Amino acid sequence: MSRAVNDDALDVLFRKARTHRKWRPEPVTPQMLMAAYDLARWGPTTNNTTPARFFFIVSREAKERLKPHLNKGNVEQTMLAPATVIIAYDLGFYEKMPKLSPNPDARDSWSRKSEGELQEAAFRSGTLQGAYFMIAARAVGLDCGPMSGFSTEGVDREFFADTTIKSNFLCNLGHGDDTGLRPRAGRLEFDDACRIL
Ligand SMILES: Cc1cc2nc3c(=O)[nH]c(=O)nc-3n(C[C@H](O)[C@H](O)[C@H](O)COP(=O)(O)O)c2cc1C
Repeated sequence: MSRAVNDDALDVLFRKARTHRKWRPEPVTPQMLMAAYDLARWGPTTNNTTPARFFFIVSREAKERLKPHLNKGNVEQTMLAPATVIIAYDLGFYEKMPKLSPNPDARDSWSRKSEGELQEAAFRSGTLQGAYFMIAARAVGLDCGPMSGFSTEGVDREFFADTTIKSNFLCNLGHGDDTGLRPRAGRLEFDDACRIL
């Protein structure tokens, strides 16, 4: 079977990539964050809406704003990570449709949708974009530590008050220290998770 990417790349992106919770001291540069976004942004979303928004928490001051909203078990791994990204989504994503869609009616037709429809569309594609971002981060040499153990209400109040932006999940970014890895847990076999119909 021919492969679009080589076996080493598959290891880096999937088979050997792990969830990290301990970090080596090497910094994460703004250029690395930009390089990851520059890849992730090409992933497909509903009607090319690209509702995800990425907030990179790097400074000590910004980390301190995030800290009170983290579940206890996530505090240390986050405070010691070189960077943490809040993967968020914008319920007002349609305002950017003139740039994103060749259809001149795209903005207005999305803007007429119900709150529930906007939430579903933004959350679905925003989550996909979060996943694309993690794969892209690995592709540029970063390790990831995704987390949903935090108060979305707290983070939204602290960072997104009076906006249409909502937090989805967090992801620590850096160069992982393998001494902090947990044993690799199993994954479902094809027959457990899939059906060809
Ligand atoms: C959406 C999401 C939320 C997660 N939340 C947490 C969390 O709050 N705290 C934590 O330590 N790990 C969290 N994890 C990490 C998972 O437990 C981990 O990715 C999974 O067990 C697979 O580990 P592996 O990548 O090392 O195989 C989360 C992962 C994802 C994708």
